[in-house]
Amino acid sequence: MIGEELAALGLLVAGDVSPYERDESGYGTYPPQAAVLARDASEVQKVLRFAREKRIPVVPRGAGSGKSGGALAERGGIVLSLEKMNRILEVSRADMVAVVEPGVILEKLQQAVEAEGLFYPPDPNSQAMCAIGGNLAHNAGGPRALKYGVTRDYVLGVHAVLPTGELIKCGHRSWKGVAGYDLTQLLVGSEGTLAVIVQATLKLIPLPRSVATLLAFFPDEDAAALAVQKIFAAGLLPRACELLDGPTMRALAGRAPFQFPEGIGGALIVEHDGHGDSVFEELAKSGEMCTEAGAREVVAAQDEAQRRKIWETRRSISIALTAIRPHKISEDVAVPRGQLVEMIRRVRAIGERYRLPTACYGHAGDGNLHVNLLFTSAEEREKSHAAVAEVLQAAIDLGGTITGEHGIGLAKRAFLAREQSRELIELQRRVKKAFDPDDLLNPGKILPPAP
Ligand code: LAC
Ligand code: ZN
Repeated sequence: MIGEELAALGLLVAGDVSPYERDESGYGTYPPQAAVLARDASEVQKVLRFAREKRIPVVPRGAGSGKSGGALAERGGIVLSLEKMNRILEVSRADMVAVVEPGVILEKLQQAVEAEGLFYPPDPNSQAMCAIGGNLAHNAGGPRALKYGVTRDYVLGVHAVLPTGELIKCGHRSWKGVAGYDLTQLLVGSEGTLAVIVQATLKLIPLPRSVATLLAFFPDEDAAALAVQKIFAAGLLPRACELLDGPTMRALAGRAPFQFPEGIGGALIVEHDGHGDSVFEELAKSGEMCTEAGAREVVAAQDEAQRRKIWETRRSISIALTAIRPHKISEDVAVPRGQLVEMIRRVRAIGERYRLPTACYGHAGDGNLHVNLLFTSAEEREKSHAAVAEVLQAAIDLGGTITGEHGIGLAKRAFLAREQSRELIELQRRVKKAFDPDDLLNPGKILPPAP
């Protein structure tokens, strides 16, 4: 019925809602009452005005690759897909900016930008399928965030539609600008709860001409984590520094496109970039630091094909872990870099206490670790949830955060109050109310239910 009313307004309504009922979080299936595929900002306005009149929730959606349930229509209503708004409106070399619609697939943007000798660094693992709108909503990160920062660091301005239907334009096209409250930065990372971003102006930087990558094999993950400390202590700043722990390496051993040495229980992928020979000197220095920390073998990629193999291996971890147990809960805690070894140690202890296999890997350089609890049975699933609560608490106790890159969504809202004070959560509730007085835009996400 709602679908018919929306179609009568001239909107493009999906005939089948099933592609819009799930995401990559594994947090369930929530069929919306209707899914609308907006073709421009005015259609986004139409949907939000309609929903407000009828008092039904609207859930904005990019490519559905989110890991925290942000795009799930938990309370039903309308899924507002931005996939058709997928134009790269401009790549300007003079201004070093790109202007994009939210449905642009990240990899397409990267290719278009790199063809101009420019660079858009944010690189979530899902780049082949994720949409820039979802990256903006979740302030996505990735391996290169270590040197280059996250999505937020590249957003100069956005056009967005408020839940009440008005189109606002915030930010600027210049690289600098400090007029007024920084609502651009507030909207980035707000997980589609404050407004629907319909256009973004992104900052671009020169494309680094040289990239060099190594893979170092360690007897265990503690030695790998020690190497991370040594690399930074040596004054180096790699663009990526990814750690793989023992269970991760054992899961990967059979399927990596090359052989691992015997008896290996940890690895680091280190990547440097820049504009000249210094890049290779820096890589060599990082290699030395790995050796000093106890690496058994350090392999520098000799060409682009080898680099690609290393990153393919990194990207296949999630699937490889299913060989240990068919299911997993995958977290994305972040801790201060100095606490990395301690965080890994605590995860191992939690796993042992619950008798659950764990696997840790990820963006060790910035302390952002993917902690996985692996399980088979329903009973183990229960245990995993209890163990996750302890993992999140450990991250908080070590001065870190419950989510370094995937967002709160509905997956972690029950834990937000562990990290943030009552006052801070209340303030965020007031911000939400200022944007969305009727609580209709992606309701129930991020903030825990009011007491
Ligand atoms: C990764 C995703 C899961 O880094 O964030 O593999
Ligand atoms: Zn990640």
